[in-house]
Formats: sequence, structure tokens, C-alpha cells
Amino acid sequence: QALELKLEMLEKGGYEHFMLKEIFEQPRSIRDCMRGRIYPEEGKVQLGGIKDYTEKFKNADRIIIVACGTSWHAGLVGEYLIEEYARIPVEVEYASEFRYRNPIISEKDIVIAISQSGETADTMAAIELAKERGATIFGVCNVVGASIPRLTHAGVYTHAGPEIGVASTKAFTAQVTVLTLMAFYMAQTKGTITQSKLISLLIELEKIPDLIERTLLSNDYILGIAEKFKDSRNALFLGRGSGFPVALEGALKLKEISYIHAEGYPAAEMKHGPIALIDEEMPVVVIATKTSSYEKVISNIQEVKARKGVVIAIVTEGDTEVKNMADYVIEIPHADEAFLPLLATIPLQLLSYHIAVLRGCNVDQPRNLAKSVTVE
Ligand code: G6P
Repeated sequence: QALELKLEMLEKGGYEHFMLKEIFEQPRSIRDCMRGRIYPEEGKVQLGGIKDYTEKFKNADRIIIVACGTSWHAGLVGEYLIEEYARIPVEVEYASEFRYRNPIISEKDIVIAISQSGETADTMAAIELAKERGATIFGVCNVVGASIPRLTHAGVYTHAGPEIGVASTKAFTAQVTVLTLMAFYMAQTKGTITQSKLISLLIELEKIPDLIERTLLSNDYILGIAEKFKDSRNALFLGRGSGFPVALEGALKLKEISYIHAEGYPAAEMKHGPIALIDEEMPVVVIATKTSSYEKVISNIQEVKARKGVVIAIVTEGDTEVKNMADYVIEIPHADEAFLPLLATIPLQLLSYHIAVLRGCNVDQPRNLAKSVTVE
């Protein structure tokens, strides 16, 4: 038994839980995910899996992304990026809904299936349906040789390494990285991005792992915030633009491992419902970094403060405006808006982790949840 314990400690690399280990692995997993795929100085993205389908992507009428859980959130980030840079319409669907609603699919559609495990039953069924109807199926998976990579026409692996914690962390940021690369690749082949813009984005992207490393330095500070909110019963997460899927993912992480009821919302939708719940007891986590929607998010923070809500804001380093309004701020380094999801997700993972540990929850194996759901 002592040996077993020792082995487990070794597997966790000195961390208390797999989840924390995997959160801290992200600078490395993202580097691994990008390795051999970006050439910043030349302004080139190279994705082996996509190469033979370049024309198909170039002429696609539409991209449909199917996934479940956290992978679905990555899909939403992908939607923002692909539409912004490659100007191809994207729809993001829950695989479980897509498969049962007689979807309209044509041969000019590309279906991107995102799955960490590559074994999710609903995602597999969605793929089979789209395939029967003639779509090209592209996989974004983490587990090499799993069922989904075998079902798809082509794909890109995320190379995040094995993820043991049931709550997905490094697999999510690797999925987002792959979708970012795919968006840039499509933009380049379609000519919807200038070479100089692509070069500057790729130079920044290459540095994202270092910026994540810097973000991880807030760990102790975030633990302090977690102590204040560990007894909360509800929490609201708000974001705009690609900050919205980050808010959804932040809420999912918190609810799945700490059992605190949490909801993610597009910040502007708050006034159509959740605002009714805001009082002194309600922590509101707001993604308030310096992006194109910064000013709008500031008004949303004011609306929360006017109702005595407690605001925890994720801000860009050096921000002063939000600092004056929010109760707590967590800084992340400045980066192009395209990379906001990769950076803003990190403090939310840490916040959920610490809250769950403080509540005595089993963070690596939350109740009722499975790492991969192979039944419908
Ligand atoms: C389960 C896991 C989640 C995961 C989801 C989709 O619910 O607990 O972490 O996001 O399945 O799994 P997949 O392997 O398809 O990404």
C-alpha cells in the first residue's frame, strides 16, 4: 500500500491533485500542441491533418462544430476565431442535440468534432450522421488512436498528453490552441488575413506559454480569493465576445468540482434574467480584460455593483479603471484579443480548484461525473 501511495505521488508530479498538475502543465502542453505547426517569422501555419483538405476548407459554405461539455466550449471559442479570421460561417452544436434533430447538412459542409477522449458516444453518433449525409468530418482529439480519430476523414491531435482529472483543463486550452491554428490556416488560404498581421499574431502566439507561466504565478493570490468565496451557494460568470465561452467554462469548472451552483452568461444578457439574483451573497466573476468590449463590460460591472453584487474581475495587467470598481481583481498579461481565452481561462481553473479543495471535495473524481461518457 505504501508503494501504491508513493507511485500515485510520483504520477502527480509532486502536486496534491492531478487537476492542479494539469493546470500547471499548460505552458508545456500548449508548446507541445504548437510544436512544428507554426513558423512565426515566415508567417506560416502547418497542419499535417488539414493539408489534403485545404481546398475543401477554402470552399466550405459552412463549418459545423459538434462536441459535448468542455469541448463544446472550445468549439464556441473556435466559432469566434474562424468567423473573425477566415470569414466562414460557423455553427456550434451539442452533439446530443444535433444527432436527433434531422440537421440540414450538405457535401460542402465541414463538420469539426472536438473530443478530448475521442470516445464520447453522442459525438460519435453526430459524426456518423453527418458522414452519411456527405459532409467532410474533421476531428480535434487528444487521445491518439481513439474511436473518433478513426471515424473522421482527417484531423489534428491536440497533444496535451494524458488528462487524468475528470474536469478538463489542459485538454481545453490545447483544443483552443488547435482551433486558433486552424482559423489562422484557413484565413491564410482564403486570403482573409494579411501576411503581416499573421506574422504578428504568430509571434504573439508563440509567447503565450510564457504568459501562461506568468499567469500561474497568481496561484497563491487566487487561493486567498477562494477562501473568501468557498461558502458561496451560487456564482455568476460573465463575459463578452470570446470571453463568453470562457465564462461558460469557468462556471462549468466551478459547478462540477465544488458543487456550487454556477452559471455563465454573456454579460449583456444579464439584464434579461440573472440580474434578479444579484445581492451581497452573489459573487460575480467578470472577464474584463482590455478588448474591444472593455467599455461595455465596465457598464455591466457597474450594474452588478449597483445591486451590491461582489465582483471578481479578470483584468489586463496594469488596469486601473476596473480595479476601482471591482472587489477583487486578478491580472493576466496583455495579449491580442485572439488569445484572450487561452489566458483568461487559467485563473478561473485555479479559482475553482482552490474552492473545491477548501470545501473538501474530491476534485479529481467529482461525484456523478465520468472522464469520458461512452453511453448516451
Ligand atoms: C465528460 C467529461 C468532460 C468532457 C465531456 C466531453 O462530461 O467529464 O470533461 O468535456 O465529457 O468529453 P470529450 O472527451 O468528448 O471531450
